[in-house]
Amino acid sequence: MISTHGTASAKIILFGEHAVVYGQPAIAIPIQDVRTSAAVSIDASISAPIIEAKDLKVETALDAATYPEAIVPIIKAIELVHQKIVKLPKTGWRLTVWSKIPIGRGLGSSAATSIAIIRALTRAMMKFLSPKDLIKYSFEIEKLHHGTPSGIDNTVISLEKPILFRKDHEPAAIQSGSMFFVVGDTGVTKKTGDIVAQVAEAKAKDPDQYDHIFSQIGTIARQGSLALKDGDVKKIGKLMNENHILLQRIQVSSSELENLIDVAKTKGALGAKLCGAGKGGCMVAVAKDGTAAGIIASELIKAGAARSFTTKLK
Ligand code: MEV
Repeated sequence: MISTHGTASAKIILFGEHAVVYGQPAIAIPIQDVRTSAAVSIDASISAPIIEAKDLKVETALDAATYPEAIVPIIKAIELVHQKIVKLPKTGWRLTVWSKIPIGRGLGSSAATSIAIIRALTRAMMKFLSPKDLIKYSFEIEKLHHGTPSGIDNTVISLEKPILFRKDHEPAAIQSGSMFFVVGDTGVTKKTGDIVAQVAEAKAKDPDQYDHIFSQIGTIARQGSLALKDGDVKKIGKLMNENHILLQRIQVSSSELENLIDVAKTKGALGAKLCGAGKGGCMVAVAKDGTAAGIIASELIKAGAARSFTTKLK
């Protein structure tokens, strides 16, 4: 084993959340400058591996009888590496994890944690993983956390490219034109698995209506992929607004999201929608240029966002 580290980016879903769970296409983009990091350090004096979650201020030995709930995702990732990829030594190392991705806000924090840890531990063991392997293993951990995930989060974060994703299909990388997005965080934490389960329950009561909405969302995602390739920012904005109306209809918006979306549109966004599972978490808006994006980001904070940031898609 050698000392090394691994990192993974955040992500946003531009089009198609929820519908993607039912086989429709969706588009996700990485946010490269908001990341989770994991570092492996070697120390011969350590008798059982030590796991440290810096932001959570938790440190534990890997052979402890029980773990604090907050670090279970880290433990699951280590177990997966040990059981399915490469046997890890029983002594002499420490894993430290820290993150700029807020937890439970639709930005892919759980997938990023798994991927940063898989990268760090496999590199430490000098084991090469292909992008396909990384997607496969990180998806196994996503299933432990979220029940029936589509696989979009761990796929976009593994590839770190804008993708058109469809369950059980090869993801297609999108060569996009340059565009500025603004993310606003409501500060409300939600569990993706819970919201996905609520949508499944509502769909079971009214399958035709939900199938119709999901297929409309799928059409928007396909149109969105063309608009991204063309760099057609106005079209992207229009499609985001349309996607959001359909997300309202499946009842995954919230008053906090609606407030931030309204503010973004009033302050110059060309379109805005919730992103991720919804009922809290984040919204995303598209802006005509970097200056407009900066203005929208500061207006979101004035309107009560817990945080906001801009991101440029090349
Ligand atoms: C979560 O980022 C996106 C959802 O569509 C769930 C999934 O695709 O697994 C809500």
